[in-house]
Amino acid sequence: MESRLTMNQSIFQKLEVSWEYPVYFTENLFDEKNRVFLEAICRKESDKKHRFFIAVDDNVAKAHPGLEEKIFRYVSRHSGELDLVAPIFSIPGGEAAKNEHAWIENIHQKIHSLGLCRQSFVVAIGGGAVLDMVGYASSTPHRGLRLIRIPTTVLSQNDSGVGVKNAINAFGKKNFLGTFAPPFSVINDSQFLLTLSQRDWICGVTEAIKVALLKSPDFFSYLEQHAPLLVNRDISIMQNVVYNCAELHLKHIRTAGDPFEFGHSRPLDFGHWSAHKLESLSQYRLRHGEAVACGIALDTLYSVAMGFFPAEQGNRVIHLFQSLGFSLYQPEMEQENFLHGLAEFREHLGGILCIPLLSAIGSSFEVKDMDAKKIQDAVFFLKKKNL
Ligand SMILES: NC(=O)c1ccc[n+]([C@@H]2O[C@H](COP(=O)([O-])OP(=O)(O)OC[C@H]3O[C@@H](n4cnc5c(N)ncnc54)[C@H](O)[C@@H]3O)[C@@H](O)[C@H]2O)c1
Ligand SMILES: [Zn+2]
Repeated sequence: MESRLTMNQSIFQKLEVSWEYPVYFTENLFDEKNRVFLEAICRKESDKKHRFFIAVDDNVAKAHPGLEEKIFRYVSRHSGELDLVAPIFSIPGGEAAKNEHAWIENIHQKIHSLGLCRQSFVVAIGGGAVLDMVGYASSTPHRGLRLIRIPTTVLSQNDSGVGVKNAINAFGKKNFLGTFAPPFSVINDSQFLLTLSQRDWICGVTEAIKVALLKSPDFFSYLEQHAPLLVNRDISIMQNVVYNCAELHLKHIRTAGDPFEFGHSRPLDFGHWSAHKLESLSQYRLRHGEAVACGIALDTLYSVAMGFFPAEQGNRVIHLFQSLGFSLYQPEMEQENFLHGLAEFREHLGGILCIPLLSAIGSSFEVKDMDAKKIQDAVFFLKKKNL
């Protein structure tokens, strides 16, 4: 024995684990000549056959009827490296995927019965909701399998799919159960965006407006200038928007010093305290992007009312959302428990409220509380102006 324990002694353990993953931008991912998927899966070990199964958002499968066939052809062409161990597994798209917990059990059952190991892959193709759910489900068996995300909506390509979090909803609370689990690789294929409804095409732009307001006046001006082209579904403008938004999110996660959100501050969650509440109060009638647009409008008006943010810049924010066709007032904003969103946000952050507000386009700061009366004034303003 080397040393004797004396009481109240401690051993201080410090671990540093580094994570890395590529986010690829491509088109026609499963065309036989496209090597991005192969690289995404083989990037650490090129000399072995990789076992994986694929879970796909059912609305993506419906909108891309040839997808399954294309994947099978791709896999058989690269059969030296790829081993697809089960039929493609379809999951109802949208928030239902995060509300119906049976899907988690289903995925666990699959991983178990297929005998997948920690170095096997789960490939998730779909919108942010399906990616969040599949990511959460695959982060627990064997304490985490390798996850490849293939986001198929604007919002998931520019924000949710490129980050390190996943979650499902529980007890009426948005994202109540979740893990921090960085993906193995992310692949953004812009061709998927072509089949989005107009609603899902536009609502993902909210996260680009958010991150531009927090970090980049130039990106905000770009969004203003290209709003009509975005509404008219110009794919090359949308590709730029997705790329820049994803890059700003990735840079924040990489450089802001708190990728796993141990602190109270959550600078990227501008407009989100009310957005999460609006999503659950509306029984998920509102998409995340739509609810965040309302949340941003509210916190922008609040920032102006408090004298933090110039009114002329506030008008530009509201005008940009209007020109993209967003509705910024929702009746749930007048429900008595709407302001409980602040308390729930506080609980989620770890007991201390940190709300990001704007000081200029491209600059934010945080406050520790908000004035309920001024929030209500902002709600009435949105209602009165029919925004
Ligand atoms: N993990 C994170 O860091 C993070 C960050 C932001 C948002 N989110 C979550 O992301 C979710 C929202 O994601 P979303 O905006 O992608 O919505 P979504 O996943 O609900 O998808 C919207 C609709 O589009 C369908 N769809 C998806 N791809 C399609 C395609 N290519 N063609 C046709 N239809 C398609 C879906 O089936 C669904 O009906 C929310 O649950 C939100 O909480 C997570
Ligand atoms: Zn968001």
